[in-house]
Amino acid sequence: MGQLEGKVAIVTGGALGIGAAYCKRLAEEGAKVVVADIEDGNSVVGVIEQAGGRALFIETDVTSEPDNKNMASKTFQTFGRLDILVANAGLYTHLKRHPSVEETVQEWDDVYNVNVKGVWLGAKACIPEMKKNGYGKIVNIASTAAFQGTPGITRYAASKAAVVGITRSMAREYGDDGIRINAIAPGPIETETGKPYETEESLKRRLVSGKKRALGRNGLPSDVVGLCVFLSSEKSDFMSGQTVVVDGGGTLW
Ligand SMILES: NC(=O)c1ccc[n+]([C@@H]2O[C@H](COP(=O)([O-])OP(=O)(O)OC[C@H]3O[C@@H](n4cnc5c(N)ncnc54)[C@H](O)[C@@H]3O)[C@@H](O)[C@H]2O)c1
Repeated sequence: MGQLEGKVAIVTGGALGIGAAYCKRLAEEGAKVVVADIEDGNSVVGVIEQAGGRALFIETDVTSEPDNKNMASKTFQTFGRLDILVANAGLYTHLKRHPSVEETVQEWDDVYNVNVKGVWLGAKACIPEMKKNGYGKIVNIASTAAFQGTPGITRYAASKAAVVGITRSMAREYGDDGIRINAIAPGPIETETGKPYETEESLKRRLVSGKKRALGRNGLPSDVVGLCVFLSSEKSDFMSGQTVVVDGGGTLW
């Protein structure tokens, strides 16, 4: 029996990249999965259904409050409950790198709208549905950028530090309702979606960053999905407000 048998999970940004890997892995553990994304998530739904699982794509822009409300209520209507929200949607892969003094207000607003406001709005929409069962798990996706900094995309590092703050604050607010809120901070993860955006410079940077890690390499989506299952499962029920680093031993404390 899977670790998430009978549970219902939403993964925002689940159509592509690491989000698609979270969807498939949660389904393998028995969860019914909602793929919530601005991009078409039906191919992820197809993979899950072909393997005998249940899944649904709900077109969702995480920056929109009505879209988040629709995502949460449609999930509840379809599957009769809502246990897990993986707040993974984020702007990262396509971000243009330049020194902070050259970043624009528009670039900051774009990143904050998705990476910060999107995480808060997702929780805001899902918590009332979770409260109906007196139980819930929210897994926010931060990044080691929050702790290490990322020269060239300060707005991104700042947005992920904000995710750590949202996680801590909301964990204190909703513990009494049985809702556990934690975060995953992955280090660099190589994805298929990221590949077309690689440059000679970014490849060099990734190689150096991989070698500095205790395990001597950067991550793959398969390296982070296990922690997502753990934080979504009852095995982590006495954890809340934590941000767990998964970066091959790059950040040590
Ligand atoms: N790839 C890495 O190295 C890495 C490292 C640490 C953290 N992360 C974080 O992990 C998450 C996934 O990263 P990824 O590399 O798979 O990125 P990605 O760009 O491949 O995928 C991001 C997903 O989010 C979706 N999305 C973007 N804006 C959205 C919106 N407004 N509403 C709904 N969905 C939206 C995209 O369509 C896409 O499916 C992000 O939060 C990212 O910041 C990534």
